[in-house]
Amino acid sequence: MREIKDLREMHLYSLKARSHGKKIGFVPTMGALHEGHLSLVVEAKKRCDIVVVSIFVNPIQFAPSEDFASYPRSLGKDKKLLKNFAIDALFLPAAEKMFPGGFKTFVEVEALSKKMCGRSRPAHFRGVATVATKLFNIVNPDLAFFGEKDYQQQLIIKQLVADLNLPVEVVSLPTVREFDGLAMSSRNAYLNPRERKSAVILYKALSLAQREVKGGERDLNKLLFRLRALIGSEPSVRLDYLVAVDPKTLQEVKKIGGKVLFALAAFIGKTRLIDNMVVGE
Ligand code: PAF
Repeated sequence: MREIKDLREMHLYSLKARSHGKKIGFVPTMGALHEGHLSLVVEAKKRCDIVVVSIFVNPIQFAPSEDFASYPRSLGKDKKLLKNFAIDALFLPAAEKMFPGGFKTFVEVEALSKKMCGRSRPAHFRGVATVATKLFNIVNPDLAFFGEKDYQQQLIIKQLVADLNLPVEVVSLPTVREFDGLAMSSRNAYLNPRERKSAVILYKALSLAQREVKGGERDLNKLLFRLRALIGSEPSVRLDYLVAVDPKTLQEVKKIGGKVLFALAAFIGKTRLIDNMVVGE
């Protein structure tokens, strides 16, 4: 596994691999790797000749009030994990090189970025879209892999790739869950044992939506009310949002029919977690 910190070296590495006809798979991460990330690495290994993973805690996707400083960082452990998967290159750019003083260009994906998480984190997706564009330009991958736990993020990245004609195929893969259903997230590390137990209510609520819709429930307001009441029954959980939206446009739906994305964000104590499930057919 080659470790690359320099942006130009990363670019040349990819150019060389491509000139030899190699297909490059890219897994961008912020580190604190878990099985969700590793499932992306496994798929990248299956579908590509060369796998590049980046670890970069991107400062511009955090608001000043958010957890950039405390975001879990475990580089030593992450490197060990990645060695087991025999990836080809680990890209570790420095923040000063990615965003030097005087950096002025941002990528904004309209509409999709304003909904759901974009309401409570107004500059978040601009930060994600900008760093993703830069990483794609530097790493130059054929395929890039994202998890559906961050459903809105992968949709925004697909839109930006299409709109800016970036020559990369964005692949999204299913959420990986803990034994009790909690979606794997680097932020789960913040939860104390009591909060960790309460957090499973998010999965329970989404599973209830899935069961009810499958069982024929068509009254969306009644269903959303039940889900909110269920989540509200956990005292340490505070809902940020719970919506039922079109899985392609993220527009709120008025009734249940076809595929519906139930998506939520909630604070468990001080930790903000997100999860989602596509239900119906
Ligand atoms: O999902 C993440 O870890 C980040 O948002 C990403 C895509 C690596 C951009 O910083």
